[in-house]
Amino acid sequence: MADSFVTQSLEEIRFWSRIMKEHSLFLKLGFRCEDTQLIQEANGFYSVFEQIEAKANALPLTTDPQQIRAFNTEVCTAASHIWVYKRKILGLILTCKLPGGNNFPLLVDHVSREANYFRNRLHELNEGQLEPLPDAIIDENVFFLKIMADHAKFIGHLLDPSERKLVEQARDFSHDFDQLLFQAQDLSSMRPQSQTTPLLTQFLDQNRVSVASLRDFKKAARDLIEACRIKSIIHPLLADHVYREAERFLHLIDLFEQRLAGAPAN
Ligand SMILES: [Fe+2]
Ligand SMILES: [Fe+2]
Repeated sequence: MADSFVTQSLEEIRFWSRIMKEHSLFLKLGFRCEDTQLIQEANGFYSVFEQIEAKANALPLTTDPQQIRAFNTEVCTAASHIWVYKRKILGLILTCKLPGGNNFPLLVDHVSREANYFRNRLHELNEGQLEPLPDAIIDENVFFLKIMADHAKFIGHLLDPSERKLVEQARDFSHDFDQLLFQAQDLSSMRPQSQTTPLLTQFLDQNRVSVASLRDFKKAARDLIEACRIKSIIHPLLADHVYREAERFLHLIDLFEQRLAGAPAN
């Protein structure tokens, strides 16, 4: 039987290493031609995460847990390195050292938060310190709602301004997710009293409706971009990337709902 530590570790690494690999590409595309050093570093991270992804896909679920523990540590170090690189870029942009570059500061901060999340997940898995369900529900939602709110803002800013209807829809999603994020932060601040099964169930239900609708919007945008039917500077892979992150959040919400349903009401 497959060990759940092994299954969870490989599942996280398979998903997030591809994400980290793609971040390297997106950052590279946003640099100026003369930023050769930064471009080289981006290429380096691309191949590091490409190799990690290939290894994670090749390792069977029956792999020895000790081997996975070592792999997690190795990947955790790579995630720390790309986090440092992303924060360095953010510093350069915010001190106006890369004038004319095309990476938004919020996008660089966003991808660094995803690297930090990945690193923490691996650390928690290795330490065997996964959060109790009521805390995980609130913390994961606070994290992912901010990610979704950011995505809506990126899409709104990277679509051509002449795509007025789509820009308006992106702005509506941005507003919707900002509100959901505030609600999640309120619920977090009311801990532990807010961690009742009815409140957490309602919280998940409400978030799921909005995430599913944002996921559909991203999917439609991705298909339109791939078919060259709308005007934008969104890379088709970026459109697919944000779609996959919404799918992941939805999947997490489903898992939480199942676990909550199995938990005794308090
Ligand atoms: Fe991402
Ligand atoms: Fe993202």
